Amino acid sequence: MTKKRRSEDWYGMMDKDGFIRRSWMKNQGYPDHAFDGRPIIGICNTWSELTPCNSGLRELAEGVKRGVWDAGGFPVEFPVMSLGETQMKPTAMLFRNLLSMDVEESIRAYGMDGVVLLGGCDKTTPGQLMGAASVDLPTIVVSSGPMLSGKWKGRDLGSGTDVRKFAMDVKAGDMTLKDFMATESGMSRSKGVCMTMGTASTMSSLVEAMGMSLPMNGSLPAVDARRMALAHMTGKRIVEMVDEDLKLSDVLKRENFENAIVANAALGGSTNSVMHLLALAGRVGVELDLSDFEIGSEIPLLVNCMPSGKYLMEDFCYAGGVPAVLKEVSHLLRDAPTVMGKDISHYYEDAETYNRDVIFAFDAPRKPAAGLRVLKGNLAPRGAIVKPSAASDHLLEHEGEAYVFESIEELKANIDRDDLPVDESSILVLKNCGPKGYPGMPEVGDMPVPAKLVKQGVRDIVRISDARMSGTAFGTVILHVAPEATAGGPIALVQTGDRIKVSAKGGVLELLVSEDELAARLAEWVEPAKHYTRGYASMYIDHVLQADRGADLDFLVGKDTRPVTRESH
Ligand code: FES
Ligand code: MG
Repeated sequence: MTKKRRSEDWYGMMDKDGFIRRSWMKNQGYPDHAFDGRPIIGICNTWSELTPCNSGLRELAEGVKRGVWDAGGFPVEFPVMSLGETQMKPTAMLFRNLLSMDVEESIRAYGMDGVVLLGGCDKTTPGQLMGAASVDLPTIVVSSGPMLSGKWKGRDLGSGTDVRKFAMDVKAGDMTLKDFMATESGMSRSKGVCMTMGTASTMSSLVEAMGMSLPMNGSLPAVDARRMALAHMTGKRIVEMVDEDLKLSDVLKRENFENAIVANAALGGSTNSVMHLLALAGRVGVELDLSDFEIGSEIPLLVNCMPSGKYLMEDFCYAGGVPAVLKEVSHLLRDAPTVMGKDISHYYEDAETYNRDVIFAFDAPRKPAAGLRVLKGNLAPRGAIVKPSAASDHLLEHEGEAYVFESIEELKANIDRDDLPVDESSILVLKNCGPKGYPGMPEVGDMPVPAKLVKQGVRDIVRISDARMSGTAFGTVILHVAPEATAGGPIALVQTGDRIKVSAKGGVLELLVSEDELAARLAEWVEPAKHYTRGYASMYIDHVLQADRGADLDFLVGKDTRPVTRESH
């Protein structure tokens, strides 16, 4: 150990400042030797009762602490803002960047040498990673882990995915309201994140595929004792990482992001991963843009989990989890570093698949070429995406007439009208739900199929918006159209009756309206008023980047690794 520890500048001095910091910490009962120069490990915790998905993180923090003490470090747990996906209005995504600022400034201001990020619910994992990347200490992730499989009347229930299906069944008259309400308790039976391959499990799986956590972080159920052991082993490992000076930027290289894109395709992972990987790459300084996601387009779907399949995260874990999937796609993975200090191949070398109905072989996949598709055209000059594995094949190549909703309120007031002039070939377009517009780019892109069509047996139509959709959602839904309507993107100019052409294979999203007509409409276009005029939300609207840049704030891109030299007293 030649390099001076960062924490020495907080706790190593035999002067007034050192005294003050040590003395006040000692009010918690820490002995003298906690400050003998051992690595100080911050445990950055997003535990909250308002983020039910992260409600198990206090126990996991204790597991991490055991490991840190075990390895000769000194663990200190601290809270950061928590983002409860299902609980926050208008959308947790509005606050992802705020969480990242909280994480970044907490790490920078406090005297820690390394950090363990405890997150799980959708926005907490990326928000924490983004913040940590902008300080760039040795960093490792422990995720909440998924809830146990939902159960009701002898069948499995998947978070998010089934509530959407049941809501449609109720609309169609195929399910009683009583049964619908009864599934509520059966769906969420334990602590942990959504147990479908939604955004939370996608992100914790991609964290694993990027080598930012120990193996099996993605899938071990929240309440499985082995997750507590994983927390312990992570605590041990972060102490070693500090001694090795293995910083976050030493682990997260371009290769790791490419591997994440490959893994996401094979997993049938969430479209939200696109936003979060782009934003994270911007923080680390890795060149990554929307077109790089085409790396995944031709990759087959291997994992049979909701919403792209029928199983749940518990089944996925018992079938072999992320290591088994990485092994199937290993010929497509790049050599890449990991928090273990070894190449990613170390994560999957010994992996096995125990259930071929849950994890399919690369040569006999569930669906060929099912990765996310990037679409471009005059309707989305800076891109849009679609998730074929969760879409209807027959709608992925489609031309139809637009029916436009100018706002979410207009959609909610009209979507179930019996006289809504739409049929199964219509294309629903929803505007002003992008990063600036809502604000925060909510998960409303999977607009409900109009009641009129549901009653006719239609379960999917093409939908286009500047919004996102939940990782647990499904349908032929074109998302993240950039630039967004509120920023004056061409989607603002679409009118009911216009024809739109979609080709997932060709990567095309075209508004079939002449350039002259569009120019005339643009001249008439008026920028919508800001929804918030004070506080964080107002700052967010002024500084948020478009979806193709991951909707980070412009002034947060990149990092600042300079030591903080000034004292408080
Ligand atoms: Fe928190 Fe799904 S709502 S993980
Ligand atoms: Mg979500």
